[in-house]
Parts: sequence; structure tokens; C-alpha cells
Amino acid sequence: MDAIRVESLTKRFGDLTAVDDISFRVEEGEFFGFLGPNGAGKTTTIRLLTGLLTPDAGRISIMGIDPGRDAISAKLLMGVIPETSNVYADLTVKQNLYLAGRYYGLSGHQLKKRSEDLLSKFGIYDRRDERVRTFSKGLKQRVSIASAIIHQPGILFLDEPTEGLDVQSRRLIIRTIEEMNEEGSTIFMTTHNIEDANVLCRKVCIINQGKIVAIDRPESLKHTFDRMQFIEASFDREVKTGLFASDLISRIVVSGDKWRLYTEDLDRAVKHVAGVAERNGLKIISLRTSGPTLEDVFVELTGGGGR
Ligand SMILES: Nc1ncnc2c1ncn2[C@@H]1O[C@H](COP(=O)(O)OP(=O)(O)OP(=O)(O)O)[C@@H](O)[C@H]1O
Ligand SMILES: [Mg+2]
Repeated sequence: MDAIRVESLTKRFGDLTAVDDISFRVEEGEFFGFLGPNGAGKTTTIRLLTGLLTPDAGRISIMGIDPGRDAISAKLLMGVIPETSNVYADLTVKQNLYLAGRYYGLSGHQLKKRSEDLLSKFGIYDRRDERVRTFSKGLKQRVSIASAIIHQPGILFLDEPTEGLDVQSRRLIIRTIEEMNEEGSTIFMTTHNIEDANVLCRKVCIINQGKIVAIDRPESLKHTFDRMQFIEASFDREVKTGLFASDLISRIVVSGDKWRLYTEDLDRAVKHVAGVAERNGLKIISLRTSGPTLEDVFVELTGGGGR
């Protein structure tokens, strides 16, 4: 069974179609990345999937359950880490966890044990009786995630979970999400961070202006964009752009003393660059080739702009 199934989902706010007829499936146990620029519709999609918003059209199934019809059953299956922290600032860390646990039906020894495990895991055990109000963003996010996974949900929705966090908090959170995925949870994560998506996700969906522009494995997305591979070279003196003009080179970008020459045929393009250098008495200081980064792919597909 698919963990998440979305068919022709649409959400409008007045004249704006924030989510525009999107369809996708997330298999059970998959780590699914939802990428897009600001305003693309990522948060709106998460809010639809988690039953916080009602769609204008289309269908959603979470483990076979329609969150619009059977909100409680759907909610028990999921953990949600929203874009802005939803922890209770006037409660202590422990109270936050207990509140979340009771909401999901935990009690007694089970709740105590699970809370203590999570407090230790997130490095906040010593601070369990402090109010969350005074906590830094990273600490608040740890409380938010601990509360969201207290009932060991099978599906985790995370809306840019590492945005604005320091390296330590970021690593801790990424590690925890990875562990949950290794233990079988399905992960649906929105992010701006292409590197995170590249490293973590088995499948990436790219959304722009409410529409899906690509869904594939990160590796396949890169291969689709062979023409975006490039040679980066620097020379011992200034060179005129026209010197390297050739059918082999689709685009030239100069930054500082480095030349980036985009090509579909790396082999022939490298020989071309070496030949031009040779004929013009240029000394090559550095030369490397690179496949397209997911960032290149992303910018190409979305036109580089938000809304
Ligand atoms: N409640 C709302 N009322 C009106 N417009 C909204 C509402 N929520 C979102 N929008 C609009 O819908 C579009 C999609 O917003 P959404 O928050 O889903 O984008 P996002 O991809 O999460 O962006 P970001 O990366 O900035 O978080 C935006 O143009 C936004 O202004
Ligand atoms: Mg958002």
C-alpha cells in the first residue's frame, strides 16, 4: 500500500491557486523530499495532507485513510513538525512531551519511558523542567520534534525542519529523521536545502507555483540534465570570452578567475579547451569537470524564481 497518495489535489486562496492539480505517491518506508522556492505551495500541501486545510478539489489518502473524512484515525498515524514551532512556550519541556503523549493516548509507565528516551536522545534531559519560552530556536525545534514523534508515528511530515538551525542541532535532527526512516517510518520532508534532499531523499518532488515540475530519484534528476555538466578552468592571464566559442559549449559563466563552460560532451569539450589554450599560448592553472548539481537542476526547472 502507498503511505501517501495524492490525486489532482488543488487548493485556492481567492484568485491564487496555491496547489494546482498535483498528483504523486509516496511508498511506505520512503524518504520523500518536497522541494520548491518560496511560495511554491510546500506548506499548503503539508497542511492539506495533515488535515489542517480542506482541498478545493482532488483526493488524499494516508495509509488508505482520507484525512478530511477520518481526521482522528489519520492523525494517529502521523507526526507533524510544522514550519513554525508549535511548542507551548509556558510549559516545561516535560509538560510539552506529556501533553503530546496524552493527546495520542499514551499514559503511565509507557509515557514516562518514551518521554525519557526522547529527552535523552535530543540532549534536553537536564533541561526537562525548564519552560520552553527561554529556549533557543534549535532547542525549541528539538522539543517540537520530540513531541511530534512521541507516539512513534508511521508517517512523519516535516516542513523545513532544519531551517535556521546551527550545525549541531541540524545534525541531531537529521540523524533522528534518518533513524526513524531506517526503522520503517515514511518521511515527507519539505526543504530548500538541495544538499539535504540529495543526501537524504530516495525520491525528490520539485514544485513551483503550485505545480509539480519533476518527480524522480535525485540521481536520475541529475542524469536528465547531462547538458548541465561543465568544465571549470582558470588560466594564467585574462582571456576573451569569444576564444572558447564552439558548438560544444552551450554556455560560459565567468566568476572571478574561473571559467565555467557548460557542455553536453565533456570529453570533446575538454579537448577543445586544451586545444584553444595550446594554440593561444595560455597556461592552464586549473581544470576540473563536474556533473550537474541538484541545485543546477532545481534552478533550471523552476526558472530560478519564486513568487
Ligand atoms: N492562508 C492563506 N491565505 C492566502 N494565501 C495563502 C495562504 N497560505 C498560503 N498562501 C499563499 O499560497 C502560496 C503558497 O504558499 P506556501 O506557504 O504553501 O508556500 P511554501 O512553498 O511553503 O513557501 P516557503 O518556502 O516560503 O515556506 C503563496 O503565494 C502564499 O502567499
Ligand atoms: Mg512553507
